[in-house]
Amino acid sequence: MRLLFLGDVMGRSGRAAIRERLPRLREDWGLDFVVVNGENATNGVGLSGEHAKLLLEAGADCVTLGDHAFDQKDMLQFIETEPRVIRPVNYAKTAPGKGARVFEATRGRKVLVAQVLGQVFMKRAFDDPFSQIETVLKAHPLGGAVQAAIVDVHCEATSEKMAMGHWCDGRASLVVGTHTHVPTGDAQILPKGTAYLTDAGMCGDYLSVIGMDPAEPMRRFVTGMGKTRFTPALGEATLSGVYVESDDRTGRATRVEMVRLGGRLLQSAP
Ligand SMILES: [Fe+2]
Ligand SMILES: [Fe+2]
Repeated sequence: MRLLFLGDVMGRSGRAAIRERLPRLREDWGLDFVVVNGENATNGVGLSGEHAKLLLEAGADCVTLGDHAFDQKDMLQFIETEPRVIRPVNYAKTAPGKGARVFEATRGRKVLVAQVLGQVFMKRAFDDPFSQIETVLKAHPLGGAVQAAIVDVHCEATSEKMAMGHWCDGRASLVVGTHTHVPTGDAQILPKGTAYLTDAGMCGDYLSVIGMDPAEPMRRFVTGMGKTRFTPALGEATLSGVYVESDDRTGRATRVEMVRLGGRLLQSAP
């Protein structure tokens, strides 16, 4: 299968890049399944129902969230009505929605998508991500119940994401990090067949501080005194993520490529 994962969509410029580029990419690259992380698509904080619809209409088969899952309050209800949006599996036990779901890709093939939050340097202590993802993967064996499995590891520490890659090796087609908004250059296929990338990067304006207009973050870093809210930077976004080809029989990755399209970053495409 041909899979595409795009990292955190950041505000208006990120949404515009998805809307303008994703429909063409689906065609040109013959994509079978597309996952987009939407946790910052609405003004940089959370995802509204309206913007979730926009990402889905542009060609996302599944939208994942993150620690900002419910910053837009309407998502508390919207996620119960839209099964294509998933939140982290180890979010609060009482959180609405689901953290993992099996989707149908082209030609009836089954794709598991799961999202999990890390614990290191995160604002809140979330439940153990390793045992939680273990339960999900055991229930959906690769090459058995599902033809492909995608794990979105939403966390701050590169070490924790790498550990999750090893933990899932051979049991997922792709393990990819989100949340830090800066793409890493370590795309690879792990020994047992899992494609891995520590961070997908964001779909946002990279002339920024992780997607935000630099003025206020700079003020806070330099003087320690904040003055206003963060607002997303509005220059042209780079679509950023990872492309994977997988074997339907085993679910394992056969090819992995970095994706960076448009905007300021060095371009990369399969
Ligand atoms: Fe996040
Ligand atoms: Fe994010």
